[in-house]
Amino acid sequence: MRELEKRKPKVLITEQLPKEILAYINERCECIIPTNEGKMSRADVLEKISDVDGLLTSKVEVNEELLSRAHRLKIVSDISVGYDNYDVEAIKSHHVLATHTPYVLDETVADLVFSLVLSVARRIPELDRFVKDGNWTSAINESLFGKDVHSTTMGIVGMGRIGEKIARRAKLGFNMDVLYYKRKPSEELESMLGINYATLSELLERSDFVVVMTPLTSETHHLIGENEFNRMKSDAFFINASRGAVIDENALIQALKNKKIAGAGLDVFDQEPVSPDNELLKMDNVVTLPHIGSATKKTRFDMAMVGAENLVAGVTGKTPSYLIKELS
Ligand code: DGY
Repeated sequence: MRELEKRKPKVLITEQLPKEILAYINERCECIIPTNEGKMSRADVLEKISDVDGLLTSKVEVNEELLSRAHRLKIVSDISVGYDNYDVEAIKSHHVLATHTPYVLDETVADLVFSLVLSVARRIPELDRFVKDGNWTSAINESLFGKDVHSTTMGIVGMGRIGEKIARRAKLGFNMDVLYYKRKPSEELESMLGINYATLSELLERSDFVVVMTPLTSETHHLIGENEFNRMKSDAFFINASRGAVIDENALIQALKNKKIAGAGLDVFDQEPVSPDNELLKMDNVVTLPHIGSATKKTRFDMAMVGAENLVAGVTGKTPSYLIKELS
């Protein structure tokens, strides 16, 4: 009995963590960590999950396949705000706690969205290549001109915490008109930020920059497809920093090919890492990033710490701070 009481909870960690965070968990738990430099493979996760009390991961599919092998699991802690990798019904049926890491990344993701907006509008990556390739041989002309960002209209689809931070930047930094679309419009938000609610169609028709920031759920899957791209202005830009599957990627490719829109800035794709054959990578008016929304040293450290605290709370019988809302 005494032996049992002394046993530290056992946790499986699928990611590389900063050493301070690993030390924090190690003090409180017995840790199984990846043996190589990268992320633990799914096969290893499935093999090692059977007798652990907690799982600390990032974007690993937590579904029936995994949960049915996990005989002692109390908590899955994801180092991410989006939790579309969780099968919420399966997690509920196995009576496992599930957490994520909201708040700490909001400002960082909003910064990244604005860097995509500026990059597509002012053609930064394309013109950087132009200079480095030695093509700047005479005064520039109209062929290199871009589009103003300031004093234009931004439409934000999904006005959550990150949407709010983007709206602040747009209003205060760039004097933009901001439209937003969400399921439940909020008058409080409107008066606080000076933004206006629009239906999705209105937003698409009026915006110079359409920014998608809604989480991926069964309701938002392919929310933006052919009809929606057709509604956008032909000189408008489309930005996605939420999840690839919120849009119909083929419809985006067609909209770009047929010049229905002016360009796109994408941090997320249907398939990640994106296939080198993806047509979007061949288009000069598309700026692509490898899903780096929250990827600064400080924010990734803070996210990992929140994930570790959620994990430790869950395996030691406390209530973790950031249970996902369906389970809290
Ligand atoms: C998240 O945490 O969901 C973000 O996509 C990470 O960049």
